[in-house]
Amino acid sequence: MKYYIETFGCQMNVYDSGKLEETLRENEFSEASIPAEADLIVVNTCSVRRHAEDRAFARIGELCLVRKTGAVLAVCGCMAQRLGSDILKKRGVDIVIGPDAYPVLLAAFEKARESGAKALDTTRNPEFRFGSSGKHVAGNLRAFVSIMKGCSNGCSFCIVPAVRGPAVSRPCQEVEEEVMAVARAGARDITLIGQNVNAYRSDGVSFAELLGSIAEAAGEVRIRFTTSHPRDMNDCVIKTMSGHGNICEHLHLPLQSGSDRVLERMRRGYTADQYRGIVGAVRESVPGISITTDIMVGFPGETAEDFEATCRLVEEIEFDSAFMFKFSPRPGTEAASMDDDVPQSEKERRLSRLAGIEHNASSAKSARLVGKTLEVLIESQKTKNGEKVLLGKTRCNRTVHLKGPAECIGETVNVTIESSKGISLKGSSLQSQSGRR
Ligand code: SAH
Ligand code: SF4
Ligand code: F3S
Repeated sequence: MKYYIETFGCQMNVYDSGKLEETLRENEFSEASIPAEADLIVVNTCSVRRHAEDRAFARIGELCLVRKTGAVLAVCGCMAQRLGSDILKKRGVDIVIGPDAYPVLLAAFEKARESGAKALDTTRNPEFRFGSSGKHVAGNLRAFVSIMKGCSNGCSFCIVPAVRGPAVSRPCQEVEEEVMAVARAGARDITLIGQNVNAYRSDGVSFAELLGSIAEAAGEVRIRFTTSHPRDMNDCVIKTMSGHGNICEHLHLPLQSGSDRVLERMRRGYTADQYRGIVGAVRESVPGISITTDIMVGFPGETAEDFEATCRLVEEIEFDSAFMFKFSPRPGTEAASMDDDVPQSEKERRLSRLAGIEHNASSAKSARLVGKTLEVLIESQKTKNGEKVLLGKTRCNRTVHLKGPAECIGETVNVTIESSKGISLKGSSLQSQSGRR
């Protein structure tokens, strides 16, 4: 039997898809290189913005057309949880399973193949989590390990708590076991993931404590984490970051808006000044740290003045990179009942202006890295203009291009940065520090 999985959305979905693949491989499935060869096609979906759902629906339609006779199509993830039977009604969809019900996938597949039976399972199960074998990474140098699922925050724009349920933390020991298994499987750069990792708490263990003990156990393996909510970021986490050489100098800290009025309506629980304060404290304790963010434009009631406050803060902070979005009302959220009064054309104008400001700021930051020597983990090789180049990541999560043999993949090398283009860097390798060879 062959499977084919396509994944939309955040790291949590990438992680879940890896775990689903692991389950399928353990049950005598192998990966199909194209959807037309698969007996089981899985689409793992995201509901965070309307656009993400539209894209997934379009792709489900395409996959129905190309699949072979008798193939089974399953829709998983957040959209499956949110829209359940509406998705099952779509022509060609056989199975719809929400994120807490993944263990039923294999049985549902068998039934669908045998009798054409459709299956819908969006049961909530706070207890459900995948095992911690670490096999989901399948030889990747980078790996995600989930430390918690769901989210108990009530940001007024966000669908995540409705589709993923309240926050549930995994026991510390289980997370550690998985981190070690993933490292043994060859991962050199591990990101601990959760919607709000700073809210982690299990048997009295805080996120800072979990992070510290994982960093100690992981030896030379790089450790990162995402996403941090500014309201829950604290000095203990900053201290843990600065106290462990293998915790990378990178913090993803979604800002959302630079206007206190908008932040309040978003129910984010911090002000622009408090955000500024965290950035200052982190930069002081962790020199060279890269700070990345998420920002939304056109939230209900966002005035030209509110938007200018965001632009000014983005200029001031100089993020290393930012994901920027137009507000999209999500059914059932608090913000969906507010007047979506910023016209689409104005949302687009704000988005492109903000993207320009952000790009200039992060390019200027890249340019300041020229001449510096950075530790780079070589991850892959690609052919660019007929020439082979290696691609690697700095500790601060920037991509570096350099020349060198494919045998360097998996090694950590010191690279002197020679030039920058936008946020990507070009360099030449000095010497190997450590590696798998
Ligand atoms: N847990 C993370 C965010 C998850 S969603 C956090 O707390 O920051 C990723 C990003 O999508 C958010 O940071 C936000 O910028 C954006 N987003 C979420 N809901 C959205 C909506 N309704 N419209 C537009 N963007 C949204
Ligand atoms: Fe959504 Fe807010 Fe939770 Fe992030 S912290 S997942 S934005 S509710
Ligand atoms: Fe999307 Fe679900 Fe992640 S809504 S952002 S895939 S938790």
